[in-house]
Amino acid sequence: MIRAYTIASGKGGTGKTTVTANLGTALAQHGRKTCIVDTDIGMANLGLVLGLSDTPITLHEVLAGEAAIKDAMYEGPYGLMVVPCGLSLQGFQNVNLERFEDVMSDLTERCDYLIFDAPAGIGTDGVIPLTVADEVLLVVNPEISSIVDALKIKTLTETIGGTIGGVILNRAIFEGPGAYQEKIERILDMPIIDTVPEDQNVRRAAAAKTPVVIESPGSESSKAFRRIAAKLAGIPVQEEPHKVQEGFVERFARALFRRKP
Ligand SMILES: Nc1ncnc2c1ncn2[C@@H]1O[C@H](COP(=O)(O)OP(=O)(O)OP(=O)(O)O)[C@@H](O)[C@H]1O
Ligand SMILES: [Mg+2]
Repeated sequence: MIRAYTIASGKGGTGKTTVTANLGTALAQHGRKTCIVDTDIGMANLGLVLGLSDTPITLHEVLAGEAAIKDAMYEGPYGLMVVPCGLSLQGFQNVNLERFEDVMSDLTERCDYLIFDAPAGIGTDGVIPLTVADEVLLVVNPEISSIVDALKIKTLTETIGGTIGGVILNRAIFEGPGAYQEKIERILDMPIIDTVPEDQNVRRAAAAKTPVVIESPGSESSKAFRRIAAKLAGIPVQEEPHKVQEGFVERFARALFRRKP
């Protein structure tokens, strides 16, 4: 049975596209037939993040009634299916959002996991992905503006009959044990599924147009993305092998030569 998730946040720049690309890749690594879709039809960049440069047919053309969804699907890492969205203003203007339901039913026949990368804000284009998914996953950063905007998305989703599946805390900086995690769970009245730390490997991977789960698989952010994907797919989370305590010399060398952990 297919599971469809929408990655949303309300606030811009929280990491929705990063989460979508990495969860999609991690699910594909687990052998799950997965498709990720850029539903940020005004400010698309999921294809760019994955290094897909030659994509003449995108969700824009499909929603304009000019192409079929199968022609807008491109191959990403590990057989991940990627539906990018166009970058032009003209393409955006030609979109008819009423076609989204047909697109959705076509997609459900082609994969087991479907992940929609939602736009920021609460425009019409942002509302549709909130209704069509089985679960909306809220990406929040440890900032009050992000939490307040996530609360708006939660209320909006529930008002229009959608379901919130949980919260992914992204770009977390570990200051104290569970301090703001608890606060976020209290404000949003939702459990945090997992926490992805602020990690320079994510930015490095973005510059290389590769998901961090491939570029730096040993990084803490990659581990978090793999844990979340495993939870979504119902795969038992592999315990990390006991970590050997890093000594001062290793730590110093890593800092000096900027080695990846
Ligand atoms: N855990 C992280 N650690 C460090 N940098 C991160 C992390 N997550 C995301 N970023 C960086 O934050 C920036 C914004 O991420 P991203 O584009 O995924 O956000 P978004 O929510 O999709 O933005 P928009 O609302 O504009 O669509 C990117 O430069 C990305 O590399
Ligand atoms: Mg984005």
